[in-house]
Amino acid sequence: MTGGARAVARCDALGVAPYSDMEGGLFRAWLTLAFAAAHDAVGGWMAEAGMAVRTDTATNLIGRYEGIAPDAPALLIGSHIDSVNDAGRYDGPLGVMLGIECVAALNAAGKRLPFAIEVVAFGDEEGSRFPAPMLTSRAVAGTFDPASLAVVGRDGVTVGQALTDNRYPPGRFAEAARAPGSVIAYLEAHIEQGPTLEAEGLAVGVVTGIAAQLRYRVVVEGMAGHAGTTSMALRRDALAAAAEAVLAVERIGSAGPDDLVATVGRLDVTPGAVNVIPGHVDFSLDIRALDHAARDAAAKAILAELKTIAARRGVGLVARRVHELSACPCDTKLMDLLAAAMADEGQPARRLASGAGHDAMVMASLCPAAMLFIRCAGGISHNPAEAVKPADVEIALRVMLGFIDKLGETFDA
Ligand code: GLV
Ligand code: MN
Ligand code: MN
Repeated sequence: MTGGARAVARCDALGVAPYSDMEGGLFRAWLTLAFAAAHDAVGGWMAEAGMAVRTDTATNLIGRYEGIAPDAPALLIGSHIDSVNDAGRYDGPLGVMLGIECVAALNAAGKRLPFAIEVVAFGDEEGSRFPAPMLTSRAVAGTFDPASLAVVGRDGVTVGQALTDNRYPPGRFAEAARAPGSVIAYLEAHIEQGPTLEAEGLAVGVVTGIAAQLRYRVVVEGMAGHAGTTSMALRRDALAAAAEAVLAVERIGSAGPDDLVATVGRLDVTPGAVNVIPGHVDFSLDIRALDHAARDAAAKAILAELKTIAARRGVGLVARRVHELSACPCDTKLMDLLAAAMADEGQPARRLASGAGHDAMVMASLCPAAMLFIRCAGGISHNPAEAVKPADVEIALRVMLGFIDKLGETFDA
């Protein structure tokens, strides 16, 4: 089996129990039983590939392959091992498995570099359990805000409590911060999660930058009441107001540049009974664009429209910002090294931007960061139908190994 095929097979192995908490599908949220099981399996594969394995205080699983000299600064290769609910198998884990395959190949060849390589499996990129994604990469990058420990998940448990329950002292979370000089660069391989590479018949692409993100939690407060006895004119239906809000989000999101997107992806209705007028709705709002001005203008317009809808319908509406990340340009020197490695493999160096968020956008504040995209079937992601070809993953692996070689040649210890 090639390294690429093994990386795919391992993602598949992680797609079922005990690495999933969902019957008949994949859901592996941060700090769950499935997450702990994945740590055990991935840690074993890291060790088998020749790495010293540890877990940092921010729940990141890290395998280290020493360079020529001990204690050299490290190239970090990583991605996340948490997933969305009813996920595909490759969003995140594939980047970690490819990091492991890079080290396995170097170790098998007895090759050491002027820098160490550390493969990092980040914990909570998706924000599936708490409305505060990328906390574990923020800890590594030194940008973690301790106020995030108080963030409450949908199960009513805070981040701090969940850490304690999993034997990670919350007070030590930020100690995972890396000293800037100890890390030379960050590389993340990821499925494209979009259709461009497939449409152009390309296996891999170089990411130029990642879109800026904003997320809100919106709470609509109406009045619950009897669905049989309250006339339509007298209702203050929180769900009807939220429905109008969702359509406003779609309308304003569609009115901007092509890369502007706005999504309501989660909506909880209370009390949620057939014969009760909804009194309370809690929904998520996610807004992204490649430039901050477009993102922020859309956010402003959406929030103003939501307030207008609420006022007209006589319901309360509070929107609280729960997440913000700046757009992240990838490092030009590293992009050129990736492009050169692709050329060596006979691959055109297609450059493309990412609308999806990645730990790389957080890591870019610590060190130069680069991303390699891999074609996925139909551009489908955040869906169990996610699929990659092992042959494409093998090309990605060879490109990553070429990149590591070239980085070694340019490395100035
Ligand atoms: C992560 O997948 C995101 O882009 O939300
Ligand atoms: Mn994802
Ligand atoms: Mn991802």
